Amino acid sequence: MEASLTARDRVGIQDFVLLDPYTSETAFLENLKKRFHENLIYTYIGTLLVSVNPYKDFDIYSKKQMDIYMGVNFFELPPHIYALADNVFRTMLSEFNNHFILISGESGAGKTEASKKILQFYAVSCPSTKLLNNVRDRLLLSNPVLEAFGNAKTLKNDNSSRFGKYMDIQFDHQGGAVGGHVLSYLLEKSRVVHQNHGERNFHIFYQLVEGGEEDLLRWLGLERNCQHYRYLVQGDCAKVSSINDKSDWRTVRKALSVIEFSENDIEQLFGIIASVLHLGNIKFEANERGYASLNNNNQEMNWVSKLLGIPTQVLQQGLTHRKIEAKAEEVFSPFSVDHAVYARDALAKAIYGRTFNWLVNKINESLVNKDSSRKTVIGLLDIYGFEVFNVNSFEQFCINYCNEKLQQLFIQLTLKSEQEEYEMEGIEWESVPFFNNKIICDLVEEKHRGIISLLDEECLRPGEATDLTFLEKMEEKIAGHPHFVTHKLADQKTRKTLDRGDFRLLHYAGEVTYCVVGFLDKNNDLLYRNGKEVMRQSKNAIIKLCFPSTEPDSKRRPETVVTQFKSSLVGLTEILMSKEPWYVRCIKPNEAKQPGRFDDVLVRHQVKYLGLMEHLRVRRAGFAYRRKYEIFLQRYKALCPDTWPNWKGTAAEGVHCLVKHMGYTPDEYKMGRTKIFIRHPKTLFATEDAFQVCKHRLATRIQAKYKGYRVKGDYLRQREAATKIETCWRGMLARKERDKRSWAVKVIQKFIKGFMTRNQAVSVDNIEYLAYVRQNYLTRLKDNLPKTVLEKDSWLTSPPIMQEAAQLLKKLYIRLMVRKYVRGITPQRKAQLLLKAQTSSMFKGKKESYPSSVGRPFMDTRIGAEDISIKVLQMIRHEQIKYSVPVVKYDRNGFRPRFRQLILTKEAAYLVEETKIKQRMDYISLKGVSVSNLSDNFLILHVTCDDMKQKGDLVLQSDYLFEALTKLSLIANKQNSIKVVQGSVRFDIQPGREGFVDFKSGQESMVYRAKNGHLMVESTKTKSR
Ligand SMILES: Nc1ncnc2c1ncn2[C@@H]1O[C@H](COP(=O)(O)OP(=O)(O)OP(=O)(O)O)[C@@H](O)[C@H]1O
Ligand SMILES: [Mg+2]
Repeated sequence: MEASLTARDRVGIQDFVLLDPYTSETAFLENLKKRFHENLIYTYIGTLLVSVNPYKDFDIYSKKQMDIYMGVNFFELPPHIYALADNVFRTMLSEFNNHFILISGESGAGKTEASKKILQFYAVSCPSTKLLNNVRDRLLLSNPVLEAFGNAKTLKNDNSSRFGKYMDIQFDHQGGAVGGHVLSYLLEKSRVVHQNHGERNFHIFYQLVEGGEEDLLRWLGLERNCQHYRYLVQGDCAKVSSINDKSDWRTVRKALSVIEFSENDIEQLFGIIASVLHLGNIKFEANERGYASLNNNNQEMNWVSKLLGIPTQVLQQGLTHRKIEAKAEEVFSPFSVDHAVYARDALAKAIYGRTFNWLVNKINESLVNKDSSRKTVIGLLDIYGFEVFNVNSFEQFCINYCNEKLQQLFIQLTLKSEQEEYEMEGIEWESVPFFNNKIICDLVEEKHRGIISLLDEECLRPGEATDLTFLEKMEEKIAGHPHFVTHKLADQKTRKTLDRGDFRLLHYAGEVTYCVVGFLDKNNDLLYRNGKEVMRQSKNAIIKLCFPSTEPDSKRRPETVVTQFKSSLVGLTEILMSKEPWYVRCIKPNEAKQPGRFDDVLVRHQVKYLGLMEHLRVRRAGFAYRRKYEIFLQRYKALCPDTWPNWKGTAAEGVHCLVKHMGYTPDEYKMGRTKIFIRHPKTLFATEDAFQVCKHRLATRIQAKYKGYRVKGDYLRQREAATKIETCWRGMLARKERDKRSWAVKVIQKFIKGFMTRNQAVSVDNIEYLAYVRQNYLTRLKDNLPKTVLEKDSWLTSPPIMQEAAQLLKKLYIRLMVRKYVRGITPQRKAQLLLKAQTSSMFKGKKESYPSSVGRPFMDTRIGAEDISIKVLQMIRHEQIKYSVPVVKYDRNGFRPRFRQLILTKEAAYLVEETKIKQRMDYISLKGVSVSNLSDNFLILHVTCDDMKQKGDLVLQSDYLFEALTKLSLIANKQNSIKVVQGSVRFDIQPGREGFVDFKSGQESMVYRAKNGHLMVESTKTKSR
């Protein structure tokens, strides 16, 4: 609100409470006008909404607009009907009480539109579920149906409500619209049979004729032409450009099915509507005796009879005769033509009026809330506005009386109750002068003296009562009343403005002159007794319900229309008094229904009779807001640390403490007996805003606390569980440990016992130990097996019990190794080893140098064929050379050393000096071979010397002694001929001439001729391996 103050020069003030000269009607009008020209049709007076009919559509009722206003503080946004609707809704939810919105204003000011906007807002803003949407649709669609049957074009409004409507919307505690209820007031039935010029009958007639499907019209006996129906053409404007009857018909048809009218209901309903039209067309003729008569084959009659399911005869009798009860007899007295027309019209009105009531009940059935839990209610009262025509009749009298009553209610609820409340609360009150219309209400409704009483009296009294006798009675009884004038009672000047049959009431809103003509008739609303009886015979289900056989007959006079209306208004007042009031005041800017035109005189008049200035004066004098201490404290106690969460003292003290803490200045508030009064809305809004902020903070805190509590609970539970698990686990571990130890003790005991008895026979005591020893030995053995055959003696020492097994294993393993070794030997190596074995058998342990020769491998030959002279080879070519080796030959005489080749063939051994064969020795002639036992490498070949010419034995030296000798022994097959000798060897130098070779060990190796002529061979001692 404050933000918009900056724009006030252009758009005026959006709350009249802020208007400076607040007592000035002109300033008030100026503000309204300024805003109206800026398309700002809404203005507040506090929480009252003033709405000026713009007579044009603009984009302020969209879904987007609704969203903007939803849940927003009332004064934060520009005034709007949605702001009011939202505020009512939220107050209802937070305070859980009932409310009503009174929408008032004169005809065409926009009351019905306003009520529709409110309903549409709730339809969008309320929580929605499938069920709730269903209710919502019915609430919304009940409107077009009620408007079709209850609204009509008048001179003032093309869609004028011709009945009063109070609609309850019921909400559950979450704000879901769960049901509704409609009350209707005083339908203007006379419109069915008569319309003023420029006006129409109720919309539904035109909609049916214009929009009804061909089949339907045929079935109803109707033609698609309004001009054919007398009841539709009296205003001479059946067709209006602003009304689209065809599309309205479609809306109504659709709505009827949504609010659960069965096809049968709909058929019957339109049957009734059509029958009213047919009824209107029935013409009476005067018979020869001047009484009304109908010709026998009257088409219209037949249609009425068919549609209402009443025998034609009965209907005909009912329309032309009246039943008179004379003592025990029933006599039918014929009507005059005028009477018959009157009775026909009365019947048409009664049928339509009662059907309308049935329709309202039917809608209520569909809106009924089946859930019985407690509901809160928002009531919407859209009731006909104050009406002043050129000629005002009974209807205007009732309507204006209703407006007087509502004004009184308004006065009671706001002005009066306001003052009273201040007084009650002990708050100083600057009294606001206002016009209390009680005096007019009393003038109309007071028992015995009021106009209604006088009218009823005239209607009910025997004798010739007429409208004029009623007027006279009023003149007699009410003369002198300041708000009542007639021609007779008026002063000179006023009399000129009154006809003889007129009376004038000075209503709170202004003067209205009523013409008494028709008052009695309309109040009686006489339906002749047999008219009702005829209807009771109807086969039409709706008519049957509307004219029940239980209805008291005419012996007791039914209540007059005005009395019925009066009591319904009392009922309404009671309904409203129990609820919190909210107001929408609608203003009509001009009579021409034109947009943008602001007629000052017209508006000033409305401002006056709507009591707006009085309302504003009260608002400005008093306080904008008041609440019971308990409610106020309950809502805002969170704002002060002393009052939160609980206040120990009285609520008033609590509120005092709270407002002190909030920093209210003394002129901003007053403390009453039970309530706090806040002068300016802005103080309250600041408090509310602070509360909204605080609420979130509190919610967060509560949430955090709760979360903490939950988490702590979880933690404690988890900790307990963990301790439990830990205890169990430890117990289990301890038990395991104990078992392990006792098992270990047993094992050790057994081990010791086994060890002690290890050498005894197998018994229970040592069997396991021995098994262990066995296994242990075998495992160790596995890791310590000899790697080669040569290590065969390094066998792991076995424990006594394993000795036999160890021996067997050793044997097996050695065999395995040998086997492996043997298998791994090549043929060459085998041949070599065989040779070595031969050598071994000959020299092992016999010759000192033998061990050192073992490691030296033998070769096939030591001299390749290429190193032997070709000549020599030629000479021995027929013999196969098996082996050749270089030797040193010592001459027989003188023992000089000579290098020679020793070649062994298959047959003989040759001593070769380069190209010459020096000596050939047949193996046969080779007697033997001598070698010393020492480390020298001399060999002496002994040959048989039969012939003197033959050379003697050979003394040779070879580096390959063992190889050469082994080869020789094998080639010549002389294994046994090789002798190892000690000391000296005798040899034949020539046959018959002997020589000697002496062998001895010395410091160094030497060969020389000794003094004794022997060949002395000294050799160093070889270290045995
Ligand atoms: N807020 C609005 N915006 C646009 N047009 C409006 C608005 N209010 C009313 N009107 C126009 O004014 C016409 C009359 O309004 P409405 O029928 O609500 O009047 P009323 O006060 O209910 O009159 P009555 O007492 O005759 O029933 C509407 O048909 C519509 O054309
Ligand atoms: Mg209306």
